[in-house]
Amino acid sequence: MDELRAWAVLGRSADFPYALVLGHLRSVGKHFLDAELLRLLDEIRSSVAESESGAVGRDGSSFLHRFLDVVLDKHDDRYDYPSYTALSLLTRPAPTDRHEALRSRDEVVLLLLADLLRFEERASTDTPDAPHDMPPSPELIAKRARLAVRVMEPAALRALPSGVVDAAAVAAVPGRTPGGPLAAEILRSAAPEQSLALSASVQPVYVLHDEYLFLRTLQSFETTFTFMSSALATAVRRLDDDRPQESAELVGTVADVLKESLPLFSLLATMRPEAFQTFRTFTEGASAIQSAGYKTFESLCSTPSLARLASSAYTSVPLVRERVVNGQATVQGTWHALIAEHRLDPADDAALRAAAARLESVHQRWKQTHYRLAVRMIGERSGTGYTQGVPYLAAVLDNRLFPAPDRHSALVG
Ligand code: HEM
Repeated sequence: MDELRAWAVLGRSADFPYALVLGHLRSVGKHFLDAELLRLLDEIRSSVAESESGAVGRDGSSFLHRFLDVVLDKHDDRYDYPSYTALSLLTRPAPTDRHEALRSRDEVVLLLLADLLRFEERASTDTPDAPHDMPPSPELIAKRARLAVRVMEPAALRALPSGVVDAAAVAAVPGRTPGGPLAAEILRSAAPEQSLALSASVQPVYVLHDEYLFLRTLQSFETTFTFMSSALATAVRRLDDDRPQESAELVGTVADVLKESLPLFSLLATMRPEAFQTFRTFTEGASAIQSAGYKTFESLCSTPSLARLASSAYTSVPLVRERVVNGQATVQGTWHALIAEHRLDPADDAALRAAAARLESVHQRWKQTHYRLAVRMIGERSGTGYTQGVPYLAAVLDNRLFPAPDRHSALVG
């Protein structure tokens, strides 16, 4: 408190004691921050001038302001999924160039998983990082490293200098790259602002080790959804510009990247259900049903049914819902318009069909794996997003990203 008060008197955001605040937060859990500390942080937030420091974010607010918004979400009664996962500290505007967009996704996912590997590894030392209750066994740490590496390898082959990961070895047997050296290399070359964003974005609600894994998995998926949404928005524009082959390539890349990300679920399945059931008591009100990234990606494939738009699937993401209701163009809608206007030749139509079918099939696998994970982790308990839980996830399994015309009206919420 004294150090924070001293900072408040001097008031320079560049020197804000992030490590001090985060160290304390992680040692007690965000849900249990002391009222006096919360008041002081609230006062500091009020005094942070918008123009302060070089670290002005894309929404015009400084990094410190956004950081304090995340710390104070429960205090403000604004706590939800984006604030729990600290997305405002991690997400960058997706570059419009498709290669740059993929590179940006790869870099962030690599940082998130490298940081997770470092955190897991330190659990077996004498001074593990907080949150440190219920530490994992050495066998569990090794298993998590192998599963994280499976997601990191394809991204590392694209985004890191050649030679860091052995392409031939990965092609022969994926998942064997030693995780420790890979993580060290990624973290060593992180820019200072990336290191700060990485550290600031772990704000667990409680003190159990496994919540770190939960947060980093959610953030890795969210980073992937941001890429998928931006690539699909570009795919719609390419169709509109009569460049269907490029559009099909983009949809295919979206399918590939989602497929590469599926082992994130295997990684998360190593979370101990008893740990999850304990810390989720304090995450009530934050659920990935509020993921704007996921719903943006879904609603760029085709317009969701009226029933789904009226259900909590979309009422939980009002800004995305508004875009859809205002007539957001979709891949399927634009594609069918080209057919109706005789602007699509059969070869291009076939390429689009093949790419859409691949994406559909990977997304079905995503939903099935997510469903099985939820059964394992929460059984018959209700969801933190106020649905019945598993029955909601069972119902959405029948939905399709690219529904056949006769199915569309039959979609469930
Ligand atoms: C312990 C692991 C997980 C459990 C138990 C779980 C459980 C649930 C439940 C019960 C729902 C329904 C909404 C609610 O009431 O909360 C849901 C929705 C959702 N979850 Fe998860 N989830 C898990 C992991 C994940 C992960 C890692 C992601 C990736 C971001 C994710 C993404 C989603 C999305 C996008 C929805 C909305 C689906 C829709 O509306 O169609 N979940 N989850």
